[in-house]
Amino acid sequence: MPEKYYLTTPLYYVNAKPHIGHSYTNIAADALARFMRLSGKEVLFLTGTDEHGQKIDKAAQTAGLAPQEFVDKMSLTFKELWKKLNISHDDFIRTTEPRHMKAVGAVWKELEKRGRLYRAAYSGWYCTPDETFWTEGQVAREDGRERCPECKRPVERLEEENYFLKMSDKREWLIRAVREAKEMVILPETRRNEVLGFLENNELQDLCVSRPKNRLGWGIPCPLSDAHVTYVWFDALINYISAVGYGADAKKQKKWWPADAHIIGKDILRHHAVYWPILLNALGLELPRMIFAHGWWVEGGQKMSKSRGNVIDPLEISARFGVDAYRYFLLREASFGQDGTFSEEAFILRYNTDLANDLGNLLQRTLTMCEKYFGGEIPPGASSAFRGELRDRADGLLPKLEGLMRRLAFSDALAEIWALVNQANRFIESQAPWKLSKEGKAGELAQTIAALFEVLKIVAQALYPFMPSASENIGAQLGMKDPITRIPFENNLWGYFKNGGTAQKGLPLFPRIESEKK
Ligand code: MSP
Repeated sequence: MPEKYYLTTPLYYVNAKPHIGHSYTNIAADALARFMRLSGKEVLFLTGTDEHGQKIDKAAQTAGLAPQEFVDKMSLTFKELWKKLNISHDDFIRTTEPRHMKAVGAVWKELEKRGRLYRAAYSGWYCTPDETFWTEGQVAREDGRERCPECKRPVERLEEENYFLKMSDKREWLIRAVREAKEMVILPETRRNEVLGFLENNELQDLCVSRPKNRLGWGIPCPLSDAHVTYVWFDALINYISAVGYGADAKKQKKWWPADAHIIGKDILRHHAVYWPILLNALGLELPRMIFAHGWWVEGGQKMSKSRGNVIDPLEISARFGVDAYRYFLLREASFGQDGTFSEEAFILRYNTDLANDLGNLLQRTLTMCEKYFGGEIPPGASSAFRGELRDRADGLLPKLEGLMRRLAFSDALAEIWALVNQANRFIESQAPWKLSKEGKAGELAQTIAALFEVLKIVAQALYPFMPSASENIGAQLGMKDPITRIPFENNLWGYFKNGGTAQKGLPLFPRIESEKK
């Protein structure tokens, strides 16, 4: 039985079109999912949309549509984008789907049964864009207005009766779990420290998990009260278990839960690393194995977001420069976990240097030389006879990638692949096949060209998680008969062309971008 690997992305709010931030999480999750599949794991990659709450309700009103009609339409824009960006999710969950709504109902009942809920009057402040409550003491005061302490937007005063999930008594338990990092690991280390700092320096407030229906009707009904609906964050977090059959399919749940990785942005760390583990524990479920909070794409020091009007449209960028180049840039430019700055100059520089020059030229030169010296036929026996540093590095690539990918160190993994690409480019210079040909050193020339084919095949396989189309394209140009995904990844070894092969040179992979500036 293959080992299972269950990974998730956040569910995106459908109040606006997807932007670079959303695509970043999904591209990263996709690279990880593809890598895990190549390594032989049975993967469940889940993404989806978060469709309830005040923010969505307001957006529907602005669009002049009924909420359901609005979320149906908006959820589609996410699905379509994932298709364009080659995202290979296995499941797409919408919080308005019956399977999810039923699971949320089952969670309410289970928590009630376990005595983890109580009803009480609440008064405090509410930040609608963040869908978060703040107490009198937490709220920020600026320009004579009460504001959200996180996003600084104005908050509304609320007084109402609601259901609360008991959390305060779980504080010590959670501090221990986060500190020990045995059952659940929070990465990167800085984020784990942030969670510990929050838990150690604050009292843990019980979480308000309902909303009065008369104030906010657009939510999942609360089975305990006709007058309440489910708080949108409580609703949304449950997706991670509803998608694997919570309350409906115990066998499926047993197979997939706990999740192996929740990939999120750092903005929603507290929801995932504090509220979610407590909710799971209250339900008697295991904690996720890993929570990885990545950084933000910023512009002028500000998070890119719809409300700030500084967003990059993933469709536009990938239409101009290609989907693979877009995926590559996001995962290479910023180390996963740190913030990144998006600029067109940086994008074009990486494209021209890494993709057009380093990788594109390596492929082009190798194929051209194979044509020129061997009529496109890779000489049989030549690659297995080859020994040297280039082969050592190529053989060592997969074990290195495994360690890096397990820690979601995408940029470092790509840097390792490029170290091999660049070594192969230097190898061409030092071998100087044109000289070997002139000097009539046919054996060495054959080994040189065949070695380059082996390297490119290993590079193509290693690139598959990041740039699936380019990877397949390289495979096809090398004349590989097996699809990259069919060759077991652990056989990512030297020797694929030991019996020769026929190159199928095609168009350049990444044509150079000439600067559009005058
Ligand atoms: N609906 C909630 C999540 C519920 S999960 C049970 C939510 N949605 S969101 O659409 O506002 O944002 C989701 C995620 O988008 C963030 O966590 C982050 O992964 C990503 N990003 C949004 N803007 C971003 C950037 N500017 N940069 C990088 N990623 C950011 O929160």
